[in-house]
Amino acid sequence: MHIHNYEKLWLGLSLVLIVAFIGTITYGAVGAGVDMVDNGETVNPETLTDHPDFGDPGVEKVGPNEYEVHVVARQFFFQPGTITVPEDSTVTFHVTSGDVIHGFEVAGTNANTMVIPGEVATITVDTGKPGTYGMVCHEYCGAGHHDMAGTVEVVPEEEFEGVSEE
Ligand code: CUA
Repeated sequence: MHIHNYEKLWLGLSLVLIVAFIGTITYGAVGAGVDMVDNGETVNPETLTDHPDFGDPGVEKVGPNEYEVHVVARQFFFQPGTITVPEDSTVTFHVTSGDVIHGFEVAGTNANTMVIPGEVATITVDTGKPGTYGMVCHEYCGAGHHDMAGTVEVVPEEEFEGVSEE
């Protein structure tokens, strides 16, 4: 049977389209998916109290104007409940859960994530000017969910020096 050139062209084009579709779907499921999942840092929720960082969670200076904050979410509080960091600094939160799925949101900032037992959620924010921000759980986690909240205090540099010396 003789196939016209035109038909060959269309056959070829539809093959290209099919391959392109499969490629897109594969990329969406595997390629992009990998980026959406956090950096994959894991932790055992059963032994958090023995963890070098999560055993005594809080603020740690890691560079000039750079801080790391470890936070543990539990029914129904955050540990520490009040986080004090200096103004105009870069703060990276590492948040995990000691029990069930919680949420972690610093109201009015881009810090907003789910907190899953066994996984460490990492978010970096620039603190900017001094102020007080609500830290809230926005995933239903049980009877006390609505009361699960804390505070992030962004304080002037001088004040922060005072806090850390205590
Ligand atoms: Cu913790 Cu809702």
